Amino acid sequence: MKWNAVPLVGAVGLAPLVAAVPRGVVIARQQSGTPSSGMSSSMGMSASMSAPPTRSHPSSVAHTPFSGTPYTTGAVTASSVGTGIPMGSVSPEATTYPSNGNLNNPEPAPYVPAGGLGTNGTIPVYNAKSDFDYESLALALYQEWIELDLFQDGLRRFSAEDFQAAGLSKADRDLIAFMAEQEVGHATLISNMLGAEAPQQCNYNYPYTNVAEYLDFCQKLTRWGESGVYGFLAHLDSREAASLLTLSITTEARQQMIFRQFQGLFPMPVWFEVGVPQSWAWTLLAPYISSCPEGQTRLAWQNFPGLQVLNQPSSATANNGTAQMNNTLGPAANVVRGNKTNNQPATGPNGGARVTHDIGALSYPGRQVYLEWQQPGQEIGPNNSYVTSTSAGAGQYVVWVSQLNVTYSSLTVTEQGTSNGTGRGYTIQPDLETFQGDPAINGTIFIAITDSDAVYTPFNLSQINPHVVAGPAIYQAG
Ligand SMILES: *[C@@H]1O[C@H](CO)[C@@H](O)[C@H](O)[C@H]1NC(C)=O
Ligand SMILES: *[C@@H]1O[C@H](CO)[C@@H](O)[C@H](O)[C@H]1NC(C)=O
Ligand SMILES: *[C@@H]1O[C@H](CO)[C@@H](O)[C@H](O)[C@H]1NC(C)=O
Ligand SMILES: *[C@@H]1O[C@H](CO)[C@@H](O)[C@H](O)[C@H]1NC(C)=O
Ligand SMILES: *[C@@H]1O[C@H](CO)[C@@H](O)[C@H](O)[C@H]1NC(C)=O
Ligand SMILES: *[C@@H]1O[C@H](CO)[C@@H](O)[C@H](O)[C@H]1NC(C)=O
Ligand SMILES: *[C@@H]1O[C@H](CO)[C@@H](O)[C@H](O)[C@H]1NC(C)=O
Ligand SMILES: *[C@@H]1O[C@H](CO)[C@@H](O)[C@H](O)[C@H]1NC(C)=O
Ligand SMILES: *[C@@H]1O[C@H](CO)[C@@H](O)[C@H](O)[C@H]1NC(C)=O
Repeated sequence: MKWNAVPLVGAVGLAPLVAAVPRGVVIARQQSGTPSSGMSSSMGMSASMSAPPTRSHPSSVAHTPFSGTPYTTGAVTASSVGTGIPMGSVSPEATTYPSNGNLNNPEPAPYVPAGGLGTNGTIPVYNAKSDFDYESLALALYQEWIELDLFQDGLRRFSAEDFQAAGLSKADRDLIAFMAEQEVGHATLISNMLGAEAPQQCNYNYPYTNVAEYLDFCQKLTRWGESGVYGFLAHLDSREAASLLTLSITTEARQQMIFRQFQGLFPMPVWFEVGVPQSWAWTLLAPYISSCPEGQTRLAWQNFPGLQVLNQPSSATANNGTAQMNNTLGPAANVVRGNKTNNQPATGPNGGARVTHDIGALSYPGRQVYLEWQQPGQEIGPNNSYVTSTSAGAGQYVVWVSQLNVTYSSLTVTEQGTSNGTGRGYTIQPDLETFQGDPAINGTIFIAITDSDAVYTPFNLSQINPHVVAGPAIYQAG
């Protein structure tokens, strides 16, 4: 492997954060032997002896699909599983605080207003405090591991000339290499919070065949990495884990935006970033994991049937909206095919990397979006050992999850189930604003097929899961 030497900012930058975690309080993962094995030599990172070590991981992993026999099937389940979450009501205490601008309770100390969680002097313990915490953090770790491999894989597969043809410089490649180092830190941080059984790095398979597709995949994968964490962050029992995860997910958010800039898209066309449930992130991630090592810790989240956007917007549809049919490389990420001969998107303005680009609208309200979805029961994910499922009835709506909004359009089914079991239909892109002057449907967003059009807001969106027929898919609204 050839890596450009990048200064050790990665290792040093992480040190104060982890060092701030009291020794012996966090369940720290035992490191065997040398710190960051595989990294120091392969990535030009040098390690300081005083900083905590990074978690070791294979320096090279296979990139082939899994072809063996699944060793187990389905998500992890507890010894007892209930029938569903009932719909509740507003808790009485939710509305008792007067919100009148005054201090309504005695202050526990000078300059300290009453209230808050974890503010009474209790020593913080940065660990998982429930199954919900563990499974959420473990999912985030699966995501950090794939990002680490993905950022390295593109640099390995495509030459500096290939990147240049797609409008990216050597410094842009160095930035991607640095992003891989950030992932080493993120994976270490989450592993330390999870303890000895923290999931390990796996083997992956990627859909891209040129730089344009690689950037599109990275831009879309980091979107669900970021949004998947926003979906659960505020629900964690462990305020301490939430605190550290916030400080890493904000770095991921920057990565997502940089990949948009690498594609020549407008860097942030929304006022709010979207959050989605864990099972949505897992549905999007699992298809790209071929196999995981023996003894791998498994996840409890659901894999929904795949959903493919047949006419996915991209830079090629800017100020036009007409996308070629069948222009995606498959469900989940719904990467748009690039031009195999010149590393650019198949058609459209040659943006190249830019800080910002007034590229115009890639999609518009009223746009007809063609969809194809799979039936449940497909083996997917690590060692094909998970199975797609749905508990919903017939698909009637497409849910659009963007910014603060969860909204629906009706689904017209054109084929209930083709010979190979896929359904087909279309919907119309809805027209709504989050606030006046902020069209809600823009940027890299999520759509799914549902059997109901019930109301959800960002904090209770995971309640939609029993109604998901297929998806989510990534939709490139702008
Ligand atoms: C501080 O808060 C925690 C939970 O929020 C509680 O368990 C603990 O008893 C409190 N400590 C004191 C000294 O009040
Ligand atoms: C998954 O498959 C790989 C490759 O065949 C194998 O090495 C590994 O042990 C399997 N993983 C598990 C958890 O069994
Ligand atoms: C819009 O894109 C389609 C397909 O790429 C192309 O055939 C058409 O000419 C474009 N229209 C405009 C107005 O650019
Ligand atoms: C898209 O693919 C479907 C099924 O493979 C095919 O029936 C259809 O003609 C294709 N459409 C275009 C425009 O290529
Ligand atoms: C791909 O790029 C080549 C060389 O620049 C060009 O001739 C061809 O038209 C492009 N194909 C598409 C589908 O844009
Ligand atoms: C998305 O935002 C960009 C940048 O503000 C704007 O040019 C574009 O028209 C918007 N797209 C839609 C569908 O509103
Ligand atoms: C299912 O068959 C259709 C043609 O009827 C084809 O376009 C599509 O790619 C197939 N999907 C899968 C998942 O094999
Ligand atoms: C979009 O979100 C805003 C902010 O939460 C909300 O006020 C508005 O009603 C939502 N719009 C729709 C159509 O759901
Ligand atoms: C989700 O929360 C909103 C209020 O923010 C409420 O109107 C809606 O009924 C809730 N949905 C469910 C299924 O509980």
